[in-house]
Amino acid sequence: MSNYHIKHLEEYYQVYRKSVREPETFWEEIAIEHFMWRKKWDKVLSWNFSKPEIKWFEGAKLNITDNCIDRHLPTRGDKTAILFEPNDPNEPTEHITYKQLHERVNKFANVLKEQGIKKGDRVCIYVPMIPELAISLLACARIGAIHSVVFAGFSSTALATRINDSDCKMVITCDGSYRGNKTIDLKGIVDNALEDCSGVETVLVAKRIHSDIQMKEGRDKWLQPLLDEASTCCEAETMDSEDPLFILYTSGSTGKPKGMVHTTAGYMVYTAYSFKNAFQYRENDVYWCTADIGWITGHSYIVYGPLANGATTVMFEGVPSYPDFSRFWQIVEKHKVNQFYTAPTAIRALAKQSLDFIDNIDLSSLTVLGSVGEPINEEAWHWYNDNIGKRKSPIIDSWWQTETGGIMICPIPYVTPTKPTYATLPFPGIQPALMDENGEEIKGNQVDGRLCIKFPWPSMARTIWGNHQRYKDTYFSAYKDMYFTGDGALRDEVGYYRITGRVDDVIIVSGHNLGTAPIEDAINEHPAVAESAIVGYPHDVKGNALYGYITLKDTGESRNQDNVRKEINQIITEHIGPIAKLDKIQFTEGLPKTRSGKIMRRILRKIAHKDTSNLGDTSTLLNPEVVQSIIDDAYNDK
Ligand code: WTA
Repeated sequence: MSNYHIKHLEEYYQVYRKSVREPETFWEEIAIEHFMWRKKWDKVLSWNFSKPEIKWFEGAKLNITDNCIDRHLPTRGDKTAILFEPNDPNEPTEHITYKQLHERVNKFANVLKEQGIKKGDRVCIYVPMIPELAISLLACARIGAIHSVVFAGFSSTALATRINDSDCKMVITCDGSYRGNKTIDLKGIVDNALEDCSGVETVLVAKRIHSDIQMKEGRDKWLQPLLDEASTCCEAETMDSEDPLFILYTSGSTGKPKGMVHTTAGYMVYTAYSFKNAFQYRENDVYWCTADIGWITGHSYIVYGPLANGATTVMFEGVPSYPDFSRFWQIVEKHKVNQFYTAPTAIRALAKQSLDFIDNIDLSSLTVLGSVGEPINEEAWHWYNDNIGKRKSPIIDSWWQTETGGIMICPIPYVTPTKPTYATLPFPGIQPALMDENGEEIKGNQVDGRLCIKFPWPSMARTIWGNHQRYKDTYFSAYKDMYFTGDGALRDEVGYYRITGRVDDVIIVSGHNLGTAPIEDAINEHPAVAESAIVGYPHDVKGNALYGYITLKDTGESRNQDNVRKEINQIITEHIGPIAKLDKIQFTEGLPKTRSGKIMRRILRKIAHKDTSNLGDTSTLLNPEVVQSIIDDAYNDK
């Protein structure tokens, strides 16, 4: 029996049981068999959730780039490691083999060293989805510098906050970036940010759009000439298993962003293991995750997880709508993509478009479809299944978080039978628990509660950079000896999990707990609805009432909005009950979203509360303009 690669359901249950009964033996066997170590560990695991302190593979020495690159050279040197698909479909695809990746990472690592970067230094990476982005992460890892990638769509204020929080010495960036038919002046954003960041000594600038930018004497350096001069040989630094590999910021419900710290060995083992199983990757497959490397999904499942398995991983620079809405499918056809991993928000945007964008495209290479980032509603699930997977590729609805480092609850394709809107079963090594209001674990099936994890797993974040107390308060204080996810979930009659949304989005109406996700799911069943978001607002009698912001599909037909309102409430009544009916329905042109596609309910909640005086920073939204139009419409009586 292989612990590493699960091939059928019975095996899953066996492996899962072992991972719970003997977690240390379980992970130790995987770590020994599938990774390259410079020195083995003295202890597999030590942990204490009340401190909290978690250590995996203590005493081991390694470098993650040995595992992601060097060890593949004898057998996979000429295999494509990174397949770069540019924004412009007329620009040629770039195939970077493992051998070439090795050279480029070594050169880059030598440049970092020459510029004074040492083990433990923080390097901020603010680069669009071009090969230099993946290479810069690996180059940092090679010399033991801690990378902190900031999504290259964040504003200068957001960038400065992140640079300062972790005292980055260097920023790696680009002259500019392409996004569909637009270009973005990245270097200008960096220049603005750095006015407030005195600790940054060097800015390395890659050339992408060949724009005319300002270079600050002594601080800014073009990357390419330095790379041209650098040697292709850079001995990888020997790292301790618990040395930080990277920091990645995630927003909390309050306060400044949290710099989640991931360490080396556990993160490597878990992302590699979960990649192999979640995608059933086979040696000659082409795997594509559409996320940006600026998010955890890109770190774990574009860079580290795939490369640790010697996979071919696609990096796409552009957007799904450019040159038109067939772009994703064109890329799948062009590169015969086997595993495709995207977000529900993208699926819904694409599902709004005509099927003509798919009809003449050969999608027969696809074997696995993935979803991540938010609950996937039933309508989007079926659209994805029917039109993209042609009902033959399992959809893996993968639940996890920046903090968890890797996929936690997710079907294993061709192993776990799927069920729409269910993330299904925990991965081996993951022990979920549902908790009630009184802090007790809810046992048995057909129950719902707050989702916690009761045992450590290798890729969990170890702290929040510079604020261990906040780490403890946020994740380990709500329930004793549990990691609290902040999500709600239900467990059905067979033990499948369905994530019902953030518990901070639960709305109590007349004493009933209502999750926003199932209501939105119901609303989205209405054929005219593209997307919806529900928030609570104060109500005299019920305590809270429901306010629905709903975007209708643009089909060109005119509709009677009052009828649509009635029909929506009818559907909710049918799916959930009259208690979940919406008191207010506002039709909107769009919903405010974060750059990673999450609906900003905080803003919608404030508008519903008629409290728009302090909406917070909306500049980092994907579509800040939509906020004002929602406010304008909200106060016409609906
Ligand atoms: C939500 C993204 C339902 C959840 C990897 C979680 C999901 C938060 C799913 C983490 C899913 C992510 N079903 N909800 N499949 N995946 N979420 O840190 O609320 O950007 O807590 O990590 O997204 O978002 P993050």
